[in-house]
Amino acid sequence: MKMKNAPSTILLLIGLFTAKSDASFPSSCTCFAHGYREEIVFESCDGAYITFGGSCSYDLMRTCTPDGLDNKPPFSVVVKAGYTTEFDNKQTFVSRVTINFENENVVMDTRGGFMVNGMIETTDYFGDNFNVTRVDRPEYSLIKFQTHFSLRVLIHIGARSHKIRVRIGRHYQRSLCGLCGNFNDETADDYQTADGENVTDLAYLDRQAASEEIAKSMLVQEHEQELCEPIVNRPSPHQMLEAMIDREKVFDIYGSCAKEEDEIEGNAQCNVTLENHPTKGSFANCSKDLDDDNKLKFVEACSAAYCAGKSHRAKERNVCYFIEALSRVCRENLKPVHNWCMPMKCPAQKGCSKWEQKYD
Ligand SMILES: *[C@@H]1O[C@H](CO)[C@@H](O)[C@H](O)[C@H]1NC(C)=O
Ligand SMILES: *[C@@H]1O[C@H](CO)[C@@H](O)[C@H](O)[C@H]1NC(C)=O
Ligand SMILES: *[C@@H]1O[C@H](CO)[C@@H](O)[C@H](O)[C@H]1NC(C)=O
Ligand SMILES: *[C@@H]1O[C@H](CO)[C@@H](O)[C@H](O)[C@H]1NC(C)=O
Repeated sequence: MKMKNAPSTILLLIGLFTAKSDASFPSSCTCFAHGYREEIVFESCDGAYITFGGSCSYDLMRTCTPDGLDNKPPFSVVVKAGYTTEFDNKQTFVSRVTINFENENVVMDTRGGFMVNGMIETTDYFGDNFNVTRVDRPEYSLIKFQTHFSLRVLIHIGARSHKIRVRIGRHYQRSLCGLCGNFNDETADDYQTADGENVTDLAYLDRQAASEEIAKSMLVQEHEQELCEPIVNRPSPHQMLEAMIDREKVFDIYGSCAKEEDEIEGNAQCNVTLENHPTKGSFANCSKDLDDDNKLKFVEACSAAYCAGKSHRAKERNVCYFIEALSRVCRENLKPVHNWCMPMKCPAQKGCSKWEQKYD
């Protein structure tokens, strides 16, 4: 079973949002950013994830107060994202990291170069309070930056995903802002919308919208003039549905259904216009507006997904992803459908406002 197209990406991303349980507190804050297909995945110090596809400069980690405190000099780490299009696939990556602290400025490029205070350095750099070194390993190369106040930034160079790791000591707890989160040992509140909603509490599609809002709020002001796209165009829900029901792709992902009883049950779950469907005609008005051919393909693709689920729960969940995409289309067409999630026994909690996080 190949897993490489849209729905599997969604599943993967949902898996990525799985919260860490924090029994023991780490001695330092470690945060990651790396390009994954069309998006950059960020992991905060407290273990929350956010993904978005913008290509601008974003605050990765910085001190929230401009003056710093005691033994905590203020600093900022900014990532600049970029993307290339290869074989029709957009690849997002981190193109450079800029670090500012104590009147020093270091820029590290994921292609391998780095600059200290505007000067290109061709060898390792050793300053009074910080150094920048290159590390070559057979499998990969790194640039390593470290300061006397425990800030360490490591970038993979030349690699496709351009993984970035930022680390800072525990004395900076609760004084950090940016995409690395607030480092307060609380996973839920690292990514919050302007309304104070925790992104980890939202359902997949709402989470995407919230992630984009947060990405925009993390844009670095002085880079506003640079040529970049704050958010790479995401497919509209219509296009998502079309992608989901693309027959070849669906069979490529799920294979065709081997069990006849699964096919029958899949059809019964996926055809929202059936008289005895659990949603009891809620989709009727919306369904009238949809193209017959698309409706047929939707049922076929959705039931293939049902069939592919390895457990009963997984089968139900696969159907729920399809129905969720359908309900999104209905909402976009101004025929919103409410209360489909509970009757469908979708793997969600809190009255279907919170989806279960683990896919299996
Ligand atoms: C690099 O910087 C760190 C932090 O200031 C310091 O502990 C370390 O000894 C330095 N390494 C070298 C080789 O200068
Ligand atoms: C967000 O998460 C934090 C930490 O768990 C919690 O205190 C806060 O109430 C949450 N906010 C909302 C709106 O649920
Ligand atoms: C469908 O539309 C009609 C007319 O606008 C409305 O009366 C009815 O409640 C709608 N049905 C559903 C299930 O939303
Ligand atoms: C879904 O159910 C309706 C109503 O019974 C039926 O007309 C339609 O052909 C079904 N669609 C599929 C793809 O089975």
